[in-house]
Amino acid sequence: MSVGGRRWLPVCLWLVGCCGGPAVAQDRPLAKEEFAPSSVARGRALLANRHESGCVLCHTVPGLPAGGDLGPALAGLAERASAAQIRQRIADPRLLNPQTIMPAYFSTLGLNGVASAYAGRTVLTEQGLEDILAYLLQTTRAP
Ligand code: HEC
Repeated sequence: MSVGGRRWLPVCLWLVGCCGGPAVAQDRPLAKEEFAPSSVARGRALLANRHESGCVLCHTVPGLPAGGDLGPALAGLAERASAAQIRQRIADPRLLNPQTIMPAYFSTLGLNGVASAYAGRTVLTEQGLEDILAYLLQTTRAP
């Protein structure tokens, strides 16, 4: 009994390590249990909304009709970047490129000339960021 138990212990630890806590927690620094699970449909609507996100002003996005070309096309994105990297890029692209023209969508630091209605607020909510990420992860893999 105890021998069998010991043999399974590493497997259990591996499963917990890989599929449970730490790995997921690292990839998802935001406290997921505080809001509803992400929604691909909401992410699509947000991405397409020129006022709420403006993403399509600069990017073409798979599955969305029109898009701009100030930023790279997002087709194939999930092939070249992890969820954590994409999340960071959207939250604050200045961390990757201090000169970027892309807005920081989940930061209030160092932003100048912010309209008073938006002062102290992030452009996207945590939920909105996760929804957009869900859509991008689902649609930007190579066919
Ligand atoms: C004003 C134009 C602009 C807007 C608006 C904008 N971006 Fe960007 N984005 C860029 C540029 C330019 C780059 C290229 C990297 C850089 O210069 O920082 C980029 C890079 C990216 C990348 C990395 C692409 C790659 O190929 O690795 C992602 C992902 C991204 N943007 C997502 C978004 C999302 C999602 C939104 C909306 C929430 C958005 N962007 C809004 C201009 C923009």
